[in-house]
Amino acid sequence: MITSGPVTSLIGMTQNTVEKTSVTLLGLGAMGTALARTWLAAGHPLTVWNRTPARAAALAAEGARVADSAAEAVASNTLVVVCLLDDTSVDEVLAGIDLSGRDLVNLTTSTPAQARARAEWAHERGARYLDGGIMAVPPMIGVPEAGGYVFYSGSRELFERHREPLAIPAGTTYVGEDAGFAALHDLALLSAMYGMFAGVAHAFALIRKEDIDPVVLAPLLADWLVAMAPTVHQTAEQLRSGDYTKGVVSNLAMQVAGTPTFLSTAEQQGVSPELLGPYFELMRRRLAQGSGEEDLTGVIDLLVH
Ligand SMILES: NC(=O)c1ccc[n+]([C@@H]2O[C@H](COP(=O)([O-])OP(=O)(O)OC[C@H]3O[C@@H](n4cnc5c(N)ncnc54)[C@H](OP(=O)(O)O)[C@@H]3O)[C@@H](O)[C@H]2O)c1
Repeated sequence: MITSGPVTSLIGMTQNTVEKTSVTLLGLGAMGTALARTWLAAGHPLTVWNRTPARAAALAAEGARVADSAAEAVASNTLVVVCLLDDTSVDEVLAGIDLSGRDLVNLTTSTPAQARARAEWAHERGARYLDGGIMAVPPMIGVPEAGGYVFYSGSRELFERHREPLAIPAGTTYVGEDAGFAALHDLALLSAMYGMFAGVAHAFALIRKEDIDPVVLAPLLADWLVAMAPTVHQTAEQLRSGDYTKGVVSNLAMQVAGTPTFLSTAEQQGVSPELLGPYFELMRRRLAQGSGEEDLTGVIDLLVH
């Protein structure tokens, strides 16, 4: 049985939502709830289900229809969006449910291999499949100026068909028919982010015991990271051309020669080298291969098995 919010909001919703795609959403955690609110606000009829029913109450009051079971929610609409904790929870929730004719859009974070397997699993059950990787935190959802977006991969036809409702919570970036590519793009960007966080942690550690206000260092640090960010384009050009010496301004020989200065400074400041050390070691190994005229692109090849 479907329960819903106040009749008045449903009547208003019906008048405002002629021809708007009806959406089913499974999963009302922090992210699912944020997604749900944007579809409701845009006037898309929304059916929701969550393992813990209490989490649906606020959305029911805002006009969502609340299904008693995941199966009932899936049966309600062609477009079924899933935003659960992980791939295992997707497995548990969708097990045994009839997915034939459904357009399954899975926004649950997964590995590329899980996404590919999930696509095959969905196709075997008669569903079309689109995988998504959300490049946003919940407060950025429904706030276009916050710059959040979702990587999509899998069925292009499905992406085009539902482009309008999918664009409501956040921007959309389609990255290919391979269902694993959204997750791969997502994890590549997040991995770079963690590398940046690691560098920032080391930088703050260096000044931690000094009479330097971290709040004063912060804008200098942020601006420097922004100034360095365009180097990713040169790295990409070198990877594409195969010529890692192209456009080099700070060669590897010079940079490796400078690493003892960083390590001595860390030691003097009582800071562990455990974040920077492994990267310096890779630089040193690449230099040992006779690549002193390159910059840092060759490190990438040392990482790939
Ligand atoms: N939050 C973020 O900043 C963020 C950013 C990007 C991507 N994401 C991704 O978005 C997805 C959802 O994240 P979230 O922030 O909404 O997480 P969350 O707040 O922890 O919510 C997890 C959701 O999964 C459900 N769930 C967990 N295990 C389940 C199971 N075995 N069976 C049925 N339902 C289960 C929970 O149901 P209950 O309410 O019953 O526990 C809840 O609806 C994750 O894949 C996450 O990586 C999140």
